[in-house]
Amino acid sequence: MKRANLDLLFSVSRQRSTRVLIVMGLFYILFMSFEVPFVFKNGLGSVSQEGLFSSGNGLLNPKAFALDSEENLEEKDAPVRPLDVPYKSRPERKLFSSLNFTAGIVNLSLESGILKAAKDALDLGGKVLRELELIGKNRSDRGLNGVNGSSSSNSEFCPHSMSVTGDEFSKKGRVMVLPCGLTLGSHITVVGIPRPAHAETDPKISLLKEGQYVMVSQFMMELQGLKTVEGEDPPRILHFNPRLKGDWSGKPVIEHNTCYRMQWGTSQRCEGWKSRADEETVDDLVKCEKWIRDDDNGSEESKATWWLKRLIGRTKKVAIDWPFPFVEGKLFVLTLSAGLEGYHVNVDGRHITSFPYRTGFTLEDATGLSLNGDIDVHSIFAASLPTSHPSFAPQRHLDLSDTWKAPPIPEGPVEMFIGILSAGNHFAERMAVRKSWMQHKLIKSSKVVVRFFVALHARKEVNIEVKREAEFFGDIVIVPYMDNYDLVVLKTVAICEYGVRTVSAKYIMKGDDDTFVRVDAIITEAKKVPDSRSLYIGNINYYHKPLRSGKWAVTYEEWPEEDYPPYANGPGYIISSDIANSILSDFEKHKLRLFKMEDVSVGMWVEKFNSSRPVEYVHSLKFCQFGCIEDYITAHYQSPRQMICLWNKLRQQGKPSCCNMR
Ligand SMILES: *[C@@H]1O[C@H](CO)[C@@H](O)[C@H](O)[C@H]1NC(C)=O
Ligand SMILES: *[C@@H]1O[C@H](CO)[C@@H](O)[C@H](O)[C@H]1NC(C)=O
Ligand SMILES: *[C@@H]1O[C@H](CO)[C@@H](O)[C@H](O)[C@H]1NC(C)=O
Ligand SMILES: *[C@@H]1O[C@H](CO)[C@@H](O)[C@H](O)[C@H]1NC(C)=O
Ligand SMILES: *[C@@H]1O[C@H](CO)[C@@H](O)[C@H](O)[C@H]1NC(C)=O
Ligand SMILES: *[C@@H]1O[C@H](CO)[C@@H](O)[C@H](O)[C@H]1NC(C)=O
Repeated sequence: MKRANLDLLFSVSRQRSTRVLIVMGLFYILFMSFEVPFVFKNGLGSVSQEGLFSSGNGLLNPKAFALDSEENLEEKDAPVRPLDVPYKSRPERKLFSSLNFTAGIVNLSLESGILKAAKDALDLGGKVLRELELIGKNRSDRGLNGVNGSSSSNSEFCPHSMSVTGDEFSKKGRVMVLPCGLTLGSHITVVGIPRPAHAETDPKISLLKEGQYVMVSQFMMELQGLKTVEGEDPPRILHFNPRLKGDWSGKPVIEHNTCYRMQWGTSQRCEGWKSRADEETVDDLVKCEKWIRDDDNGSEESKATWWLKRLIGRTKKVAIDWPFPFVEGKLFVLTLSAGLEGYHVNVDGRHITSFPYRTGFTLEDATGLSLNGDIDVHSIFAASLPTSHPSFAPQRHLDLSDTWKAPPIPEGPVEMFIGILSAGNHFAERMAVRKSWMQHKLIKSSKVVVRFFVALHARKEVNIEVKREAEFFGDIVIVPYMDNYDLVVLKTVAICEYGVRTVSAKYIMKGDDDTFVRVDAIITEAKKVPDSRSLYIGNINYYHKPLRSGKWAVTYEEWPEEDYPPYANGPGYIISSDIANSILSDFEKHKLRLFKMEDVSVGMWVEKFNSSRPVEYVHSLKFCQFGCIEDYITAHYQSPRQMICLWNKLRQQGKPSCCNMR
């Protein structure tokens, strides 16, 4: 577990973890050499002290900041920027999708929002693309440094510490930007006052009937990955939510969670009981400290008697309980710090909770601190921050080794083509796919061909890097429009086009860059259907209805019908090439109806196809949508680290079992 957590801090790359281990060793020696005299000096007196002020986080001791050298170590042996890496250009490989998107949507009416969006995205995309192509042409004249301009932009300089007052914080939308994220030992101190409870009718944290309300006082402190994902809510790397009043349990609690790709994890609730002794600790601290609950007045000892006993000289270690750390209208000083294994929260000098690192995000990705809810912020201080940001430079994620290059497309027909939807800046995700299931022998031998489908990014530097990545690995197809959540469906058409025209595959599969695919299992699944039949395989939803309210509402203009057709969940499904071909020809004849939900669109197209030629619908829960199940065929929401872990398990144990760490 320790190893795993460490890896998380320093990215997935294997070679680095050796370095990390060495540094860990140094750290240990350093720590011991300080800690041992410390114990001696303080002698017995310090023993009972520990009960009072929980020993806290060793990392907060000034001596531990020697750890900052870790960053330096890494910087020293990593080249400043591997610009000289030989990106060989392979003109024979198609970088761009050859589907004529303009032709496909030119004659469709502009009434529906998606077509307007598509036109705009294509127009802008066209401009960006021409720019990109020019850069490609000029590169040969100017050598590899042709994109000099963009490369210097990653050497962002960041302050070692930052502070804002409450007013400044409110003016900036209650988000404090940490331009280079956090690093090991970084800490953020928030001085604030919880506001008194207010009447709340939105039954988010309490179960309510119509017309009822509840008095609620709660606030949310979040570390967000502001720059990691485009077109989605930023991932919440840490969500810290003290509920002073209004939790359904009727007690004050503190909830912790993470939200990756808009998917919440399981929450960690601290309800005033100390974590069980057998529970996993975080840097040797418990996940939840005890506080006085109004229903356990028996065990409480008043501070006066405690002091009395101490004066009399009782040697027995006495534990003292404190009340819930947040009180309406009372000032608190909260410090959040980044340890080796997780985040630690201290309030008014006492350790309250710890939350182990979960997602595939690194500390550097935590580029924003937001505070919302019933809280008045007085000031925020962040210190021991990293002063340079190695990230956003894809070089951190890309491993430019020939091993990971895609084999060329064979002359003859291919069994299966897998198109993976990916966003421009998902460098780490793509690399994890390359290093995991794309190493399957069926892919290495070109029986199965895999390509990433990436649209243009709003940031020019990202596009330049994607193009270079595409040229090096040969496994990216760039679709010429500006990326947009509602236009994912166009990528699916591009996948059909590539699968039918470029690869001549028998089956076409669509996946996401956080989908883990068992390549042999999907072939087996497809082979179960006789060769002559058309097929549609996946985790199929029957009788689903559009959501008509809320953030993800579908309007009646967008989808007039009451029901959706049967459709396979988007993270992994297979169609036969005849269906793909008909999708493509409908698109080119301007007859293809486009809907913003990509998976529903495919369900609709297959249903239409089925009306003229029967399609075999194969439903399997093993195309897991919500995560991973044992014996999965595909697993979804897998972070880069989990991808590698799943692949290792598959190879070493020969069976598909999940990796449940995040
Ligand atoms: C795409 O189609 C449009 C309209 O049919 C046409 O004007 C354009 O030249 C086509 N583009 C390519 C690259 O074939
Ligand atoms: C668009 O539709 C009109 C009439 O429906 C047709 O004459 C024209 O050829 C179509 N344009 C394209 C590019 O197919
Ligand atoms: C490419 O080079 C030409 C002249 O060689 C120049 O006019 C043009 O601006 C350059 N384009 C870019 C994107 O650098
Ligand atoms: C390229 O980078 C170097 C050093 O970063 C800088 O001095 C030079 O001006 C840059 N050249 C261009 C054309 O941006
Ligand atoms: C706490 O005190 C209340 C009233 O003083 C009493 O009803 C309750 O039983 C006590 N709870 C415990 C666990 O002793
Ligand atoms: C496919 O078509 C057949 C024959 O028309 C029909 O019986 C079946 O219900 C259709 N399947 C779906 C899922 O629409």
